Amino acid sequence: MDELNELERLRKELHLHNHHYYVENSPVISDREFDILMKRLEELEARHPEAFDANSPTQRPGSDIAKGFSQSAHIYPMLSLANTYSVEEVDAWVRGIGKLTDSDDAELCGELKFDGTGISLIYEHGRLVRAVTRGDGEKGDDVTANVRTIRTIPLVLQGEGYPDFFELRGEIVLPWEAFRKLNAAREEAGEALFANPRNAAAGTLKLQNSAEVARRGLDAYIYYILGENLPFTTHYEAMTAVRSWGFKVSDAMTRLDSIEAVDAYIRKWDDERHALPVATDGLVFKVNSLRMQEELGLRAKSPRWAVAYKFAAERALTPLRFVSFDVGRMGIITPVANLEPVLLSGTVVKRASLHNEDIVNALDIHEGDTLYVEKGGEIIPKITGVDLSARIPGAEKVRFVSHCPACGTPLVRVEGEAARVCPNKWGCPPQIVGRIEHFVGRRMMDIDGIGEETARALYEAGFVRNFSDLYSLEPEQLMKIDGFGRRSAERVIEGIRRSADVPFERVVYALSIPYVGETTAKKAARAAGNIDRLMTMTQAELESIEDVGPRIAESIIDYFSEAENRRAVETLRAAGLKMEMAADEAAEPLSDILAGKTVVISGVFSRYSRDEYKRIIERHGGKNSGSISKKTDYVLAGENMGPAKLEKAVNLGIKILNEEEFLKLIGDTTE
Ligand code: IVH
Repeated sequence: MDELNELERLRKELHLHNHHYYVENSPVISDREFDILMKRLEELEARHPEAFDANSPTQRPGSDIAKGFSQSAHIYPMLSLANTYSVEEVDAWVRGIGKLTDSDDAELCGELKFDGTGISLIYEHGRLVRAVTRGDGEKGDDVTANVRTIRTIPLVLQGEGYPDFFELRGEIVLPWEAFRKLNAAREEAGEALFANPRNAAAGTLKLQNSAEVARRGLDAYIYYILGENLPFTTHYEAMTAVRSWGFKVSDAMTRLDSIEAVDAYIRKWDDERHALPVATDGLVFKVNSLRMQEELGLRAKSPRWAVAYKFAAERALTPLRFVSFDVGRMGIITPVANLEPVLLSGTVVKRASLHNEDIVNALDIHEGDTLYVEKGGEIIPKITGVDLSARIPGAEKVRFVSHCPACGTPLVRVEGEAARVCPNKWGCPPQIVGRIEHFVGRRMMDIDGIGEETARALYEAGFVRNFSDLYSLEPEQLMKIDGFGRRSAERVIEGIRRSADVPFERVVYALSIPYVGETTAKKAARAAGNIDRLMTMTQAELESIEDVGPRIAESIIDYFSEAENRRAVETLRAAGLKMEMAADEAAEPLSDILAGKTVVISGVFSRYSRDEYKRIIERHGGKNSGSISKKTDYVLAGENMGPAKLEKAVNLGIKILNEEEFLKLIGDTTE
């Protein structure tokens, strides 16, 4: 492939992965796989200086900044740590410090490296005033309302001797037990699982609903204090004081006075970390003397006075049997490594996703290769590399299939995306069966008794060629499928009949519109109000729905432009499914108090969500707008409203209402 094309594609792909990781907290590939793609991009950029772009993922660190939160600038930049992987590397770092400071035996402080999400906490006069995520290191999201729910972060300090103004740095974590509970509940509800406690903690911190944050059981460990003229001489002393003010400072923190002590500390925790209640991914060694820390100072991305030691991920080597290619309900082809079964962190691993063509190519897998499989803190095993010494001479490189393994149709690659797709939507069995399976799922139409096998059997027997055919299914047809008797068949038919009560927004989700996940389906259904409107909305109208960008809008339009899909909708309508929002949810007018008024919503709310406020405004005759202008009549300001918006509203003399004032205005006095 042309290198410049590859370079552009990698940039797009890495931007997307950054978004998955930092914003959605749901990475699609492992850190290692990300590194492989990034390294390839760096290589290509070095070879093609003419293609320099200041916005390339190689130039810009990832950022966790999310929609819906106001940003706050960090007083001191939030840095990361340089990594080491052996005691020798830690020793080399210690010697480097010796040279820089003329001190041969700097005392160190050893700590656990908690695997959660970093936080900055500002305390003024003994009270928590602000909590901000790392963001891009310079500014982050203000998540104070959510952090206030974490019981191990004191809102008012205990003890005495704390400075008037200071900042703490720490890690927000979701303990293993809470993580397992959360994932079990998500599985039960048919929701996507969090890959590890780190993603779960980061995702939870960015929820718009603080009550839900409180329920999930976050915890926090503090590991650094910043401020002017702090009354401490060592980090250890400072952290001991922080502990006395009511914070959780890990008991694993200890002073280390030699490289032998560092070595023993590494050995101890490499073993004992498995028994900890929270995830850790290594240790951190810090120069204990604060004077020396200051002398050593900072590099661009990390301090010179601290270093991380990363535990080796649990890893196994196992031969590849073959690579298979799964076909999803949207036609996306996923390569899967089928392995000789191998035991890894207590479970037997037989299959691991290779995600997409770029990853298969970057790993450069050959037939019969022996592969490294890693689990780390993750649930899903990952292929992280190939043992080149075990490669069979002359073995063929594993190539991505060019045709659909299920129906033989030539695959297409969507512009700007890594996925290869089978375009044969209406003739490719696993796609159709996958859509039927999705349709009957718990969070969609919730029809019991039809799993993957039954869906496939119904399709193969010709009884159900599309999910809408379920509504004309007869018990006698089901009884022809293995495992069904009269009673079980009738029970399924009864379940199908009952699914007519499922609310409209779930029907929209059940339709399998590409890119329309559960949340988007809900928002689109509410914004449109009914199916006929959704089917005829223009690109611009669709894009005005929260969370709907150009790609999703286009996908909705494409979907309803297909005769087959429109036919399915009509069949579902005839079967009595809900094709509009329920009366109490629909935009029936409540009053005309806001008639002719334009309202801008900003910030986070406690009584209703932003979307609910949008509907409330419409139902009282008002118009909702995204940006403040001379035409704005009111700003409905929640917590954490952006300072720029606030300033603009004040300058234009627009009336700013808080949640209570707004509810009073529209006459909503219910509690
Ligand atoms: S010290 C300027 N200590 O690891 C000093 N960081 O990979 C900054 N982390 O961004 C960090 N445990 O979010 C420090 N005991 C610990 C830590 C720790 C976890 C996180 C932190 C940091 C990241 C760097």
